[in-house]
Amino acid sequence: MKKTGKAHSNIALVKYWGKQDEGLRLPMNPSVAIALDEAYTLTTVEFDTKYSEDEVELLGEGFEEDEVEKVKKHLDRVRKIARIETKAKVVSKNNFPKAAGMASSASGFGALSVAASAACGLELSERELSVLARNGSGSASRSIPGGVSVWYTGETDESSYAERIDYPDEWNLRVLLVMAEDTSAKKVSTTEGMALSKATSPYYNLGVEEAKKNIERLKIAMNNGDWTAFGKVVEDECYRLHSICMTTTPNLLYWRGITIEIFQEMYKLREQGVEAFFTVDAGPHVHIVVRSQDVSIVKEKLEKINGIKTVIDCKIGPSAQVVEEDLF
Ligand code: PMV
Repeated sequence: MKKTGKAHSNIALVKYWGKQDEGLRLPMNPSVAIALDEAYTLTTVEFDTKYSEDEVELLGEGFEEDEVEKVKKHLDRVRKIARIETKAKVVSKNNFPKAAGMASSASGFGALSVAASAACGLELSERELSVLARNGSGSASRSIPGGVSVWYTGETDESSYAERIDYPDEWNLRVLLVMAEDTSAKKVSTTEGMALSKATSPYYNLGVEEAKKNIERLKIAMNNGDWTAFGKVVEDECYRLHSICMTTTPNLLYWRGITIEIFQEMYKLREQGVEAFFTVDAGPHVHIVVRSQDVSIVKEKLEKINGIKTVIDCKIGPSAQVVEEDLF
């Protein structure tokens, strides 16, 4: 059977950076993310005896060898659940550049989990899909429910999954994904980077405790509809993640000049009463969390800055699902 899955990228507001169990991909702390409607992956999977080996292709940019291996390993997980040995063909496409810190692994493993499980006739629940996606890439667990979601640390494979949480609708939340031209940061995989941070950053354990507190602060701000308090947590979390990264050996410096320039522009806007907040994952690109009323003024500001490749304007994205758009 051939099936196509669609899953959206997500940006972490409270960040995941490190595992308590490497094998099971159980995170050190819970995390919260927003799914992005304009950044997604489509993946078509077909299991058929006509394939003697798994065939894996990413349209446009192509996969690196290690990425192909990760996809095949994920197919093995699905085959194990379905109790089959049939090989598969996988074709995938991102509608946004597969660049550092753009969470293509989140939407990628989200779409692959949905497509591969459907293609071998499995009917997994959202929670089961989130667990499956997590095994491919931690942040992918949050691309399954979409919306604003929390990924629980869990103590077993089945108990570490993501589900949606409420947020104030009246915020009309938008995320501007600001892609930097300078992507020269040295490529260390997130898996490797996290393990290095856990092993070497003197602030690592402190950071984990902070993240747990920040989840509570974020929830309180959302319950109270307090946008300013919400934004403060978002930026605190950005600095928390990157202070851990920067104090890792070797130092993981994901920011570029443009990254900091955008931070400074957001501070200036705030002085004028426009509350837009920044956050950054493992790359130089900036995500700006803003209410719809302020989108145009932030965009105008960004247009004046050199070194930005493109700005993608996103609303909160939906859950991952099977779609009728086969790629082969
Ligand atoms: O799941 P991974 O390996 O793509 O790691 C994601 C790590 C961050 O994007 C930096 C933080 C997060 O919570 O998404």
